This record gives sequence, C-alpha cells and structure tokens, in this order.
Amino acid sequence: MRTLVIADIHGNFPALEAVLATPEAAACQRIISLGDQVNFGPQPREVMARLTALNAIMLRGNHEERLLQVNAPEYAGYNWVLQRWTHRQLTGVPLDHPIDYAEGRKLFTHGTPGEPFHLIETHEVPAQLEQLPAGVTHLFSGHNHFPWLVEHRGRTACNPGSLGMLEDGTGGSAPFVVMEEEGDRINLTRHKIPYDTAALKRAFITTGCAAAAPQMARIVLHTMLTGEYQATLKMVRFIASLGDLGNEAVWQKADALYPWRERLSTAEYWKNLEEELL
Ligand SMILES: [Fe+2]
Repeated sequence: MRTLVIADIHGNFPALEAVLATPEAAACQRIISLGDQVNFGPQPREVMARLTALNAIMLRGNHEERLLQVNAPEYAGYNWVLQRWTHRQLTGVPLDHPIDYAEGRKLFTHGTPGEPFHLIETHEVPAQLEQLPAGVTHLFSGHNHFPWLVEHRGRTACNPGSLGMLEDGTGGSAPFVVMEEEGDRINLTRHKIPYDTAALKRAFITTGCAAAAPQMARIVLHTMLTGEYQATLKMVRFIASLGDLGNEAVWQKADALYPWRERLSTAEYWKNLEEELL
C-alpha cells in the first residue's frame, strides 16, 4: 500500500493541488495529513473540502487547537485577526480531529505524541525517537516547517516539511512523502515540487484574507514565496519589541519601521499586487 504523507498545508490550496496532481500522489491509496491543515493561508475552506472529499486521515495541529478555542479571551487582540478570519471561513467544518494516529509500529502526530504545540528542533529528533513507546519504529510529525528524515537506533523519524509554508529557504515549493509498505518493509521517499505562486498571491486578495489581516497576511505570503525560516516569528517579535501585540496602532507603527524586502508600506504592497494580478 502507498500512503501520501503531508503536513502543515496552512490553507495554501494551490500547493495542495500541485501535490495531488503529481503521479506519485496519484499512485497513493490514501492520504494522512499531520495537522495544521488550515490557518495563515487564504483558502482554508477549499483545503478542508478537498481533503474531506478524498477521505484523508487528518490530525489536529496547534492551529486547529487554537481555532477550536477562537473565542477565548487570549485570542481577542489584533495579533489574532487572521486566525479569526480563518475561523469565519470554516463555519460548519469540523476541526476536532484526533491528536495522534497509531497504526501498527507507526505513530503519526503533529508536534510530539499528545502535544500538538510542542516544537521539536532538528537536533532533538534522535532523543525523541528514544522516548517512543515500545513497538513503535516510525514516527511521523510536522509542526516544525523544516523537513527531516532521521534514522536512529533502528527507528525512523519523518517530517515531510510544511506543504504550504515550507521554511527550508526554497520558496514556492511544496514537499511531501510517499510511504510504501510491503509486508514488513516501510519505504519512505521524499519529494518537492513547485506550485502556482500567482494563484496563491491572487487568492490572498480575492478571498479577503489580505484585507482582513494585512501585515500578518503579508509576512505569511513572504514566507510562502521565499521559504524564509521563521519569518513570521521574527516579525511578531519585532512588533512585540515596540509595544502590545494586541494593539492595531502598534502594528501600524511597526509596519513603517519593519525592514520589508519590498520597500513599501503594507497598504502599498497589497495595492501593487492587486494591480499586477487582477
Ligand atoms: Fe504549522
């Protein structure tokens, strides 16, 4: 049996469509998605509809976990405006998927087993493998948007990398893994393909995502186009250094000072993109 293993789509529908259109994905009998199917990107509803139609096994990432608690007081500030927009797009769409999925000697999760928020760094992967329950030889996880395939003392850890928001320095590309099982053998192959970035840019504008959360949507698109590692976190830290993240005025002040690659205000950036694409 062949399984398509994907992670962290983050509402990037053109990237998902490109992966599904590959012969490698078409040869798979099923899909396992390791969480963070949505949030950040502009087409969460389309992503969920496609995965649901394909009967994908979906796990709950930290972003689904947050969306399930979107009305909690800690998510009321301006820094969560993109999350609230995503939540509105997903009315009626179930997000309470299981946190882990165990199957024989394989364990699938988002961060670490039972902990969708727990981020594993590359150098911590061997130690994580040593902590696995007896009988588990293969751990599949996402959350860290950087991919890995690590073998350690007879066990294997696989992070396919973020399909929709890959942070390995290559922009506009979508990674995935094909798992082939035959008898006792588990064979993993990694792939990475380009996708339609013009369609992605257009979606940020036409869906209203960019208008709802201009600065956050801009840094998300920047990450998707460049693969810059933790660009979102860097921007948020910069804004936090100027004041309260929940205050829109602080974001406006930061926007004027932030070293954007395109030396434009965020309002100008989206206006230019709109004129270029629509
Ligand atoms: Fe993620």
